[in-house]
Amino acid sequence: MISRRKFIAAGAGTLGAAMALPPWRSMAAGGDAYQVLEPKPGTAPLAGVDKPGVSVWGYQGTVPGPLIRVKRGEKVRVRLKNGLAQPTTIHWHGIRIDNAMDGVPGLTQDAVQPGKTFDYSFIAPDAGTYWYHSHAKTWEQVARGLYGMLIVEEEAPPKVDRELLFVADDWRLDADGQIDEESLGNLHDWSHAGRMGNWLTVNGLTDPDIPVRAGERIRVRMINTANARTLAFDFEPLSPQVIALDGQPVSPWTLGGALRLAPAQRADVIIDIDGKPGDTIPVWEVSTRNRLKAAQFKIANGPPLRERPPEAPIVLSPNSRLATPKLDGAQAIEMVMEGGAMGGLREGSIDGKMFSIQELVEKKLVWAFNGKVGMQKQPLAAIPKGRTAVINMVNKTAFPHAMHLHGHHFRVIERDAKPVTGAPWRDTELVARNEQVRIAFVADNPGKWLFHCHMLEHVAAGMITWIEVA
Ligand code: C2O
Ligand code: CU
Repeated sequence: MISRRKFIAAGAGTLGAAMALPPWRSMAAGGDAYQVLEPKPGTAPLAGVDKPGVSVWGYQGTVPGPLIRVKRGEKVRVRLKNGLAQPTTIHWHGIRIDNAMDGVPGLTQDAVQPGKTFDYSFIAPDAGTYWYHSHAKTWEQVARGLYGMLIVEEEAPPKVDRELLFVADDWRLDADGQIDEESLGNLHDWSHAGRMGNWLTVNGLTDPDIPVRAGERIRVRMINTANARTLAFDFEPLSPQVIALDGQPVSPWTLGGALRLAPAQRADVIIDIDGKPGDTIPVWEVSTRNRLKAAQFKIANGPPLRERPPEAPIVLSPNSRLATPKLDGAQAIEMVMEGGAMGGLREGSIDGKMFSIQELVEKKLVWAFNGKVGMQKQPLAAIPKGRTAVINMVNKTAFPHAMHLHGHHFRVIERDAKPVTGAPWRDTELVARNEQVRIAFVADNPGKWLFHCHMLEHVAAGMITWIEVA
């Protein structure tokens, strides 16, 4: 069995040929014409450049898909042309988007059939690091590589020497080094922690070299695109400063320890490359006991770019349009998360009809919100536009869940009955097992918005609901 995780644990050295990051393919999607994004089969050097290519599904056949880069407030125009043999859509994760463009089949649009097209056009109101991915059969389509980055530029970005992407994914490869298709849809994964991989890539590569210069200040836009695994990156001895989470600016802090990213979460960090010319500084993935080298900074020979770190303060100008929740008179929404292995779920309802756990297992629906399993005709809540909503999530399952709200950013205001102040704006929040988390947001974006676990096997197996803002 090919497994970087197991392989490293056995004491083996570095795996995979190190190579420089390829130049990013970027699409200037902000122009007047529609740029085509075509999901289709392709081959990617995921397992290492010295290994056979891995058959994937990617936008333009590549993993990650083309980088889309626009200015804040600019119109994005993308024509989805479905080159797959199954229906698909594109969701623009984290964008406070016009509801009709949100890409949720059955809720905001019909799925796009093979060979057919759909035009997405929207304005990205907030600067930051976002991503796009398929929102149809995500447990398969995203697992096979259907995602890419969407960067919305600030008017006045912080001054750095260079910007890098750090797109981390957790693949499950089989003995031939190909995507382990047999495990797709496995009910054990669906009812436990999701489909965990055995092969880590950064920017679609195994343990890539990231060429830098001594004294250089870089901005790294990080994301975890894994189906289910929460990743954690340790940059020691470098000291990254976190400047944004899920696209939204935060008051910068210096990372102490590893940076944890649940599936779909992003972080922007600023790193001053503090090292000698010729040095190599590894970045470790430390979410398991078998730490794994994710990538390495390779400091170029030759004179440093500067002797001391730049003095300019690193602050992102805020995205001004996020409204502050008013907790007085807020709409309170309760959400009990149940089910899964060791979750003790005995029955659940779908559109008012009760099913026993045996019947639900047959449907592969094993998780519930408030006793309701999977997508329902009725929303979790209808919220008048402009009202503050407070959702109280109570995780009664034996697993953590990365809860994602479409179309809005929210902030945590309470955790395990203790008030939380000044929490960052997020679009995806990890709720630990047995944890209680209260979040608040102003429901100011009209439409039908999903609220689901971003562990893609969990959403497929029932952890999905929606809110209606009218
Ligand atoms: Cu990134 Cu509904 O998903
Ligand atoms: Cu989950």
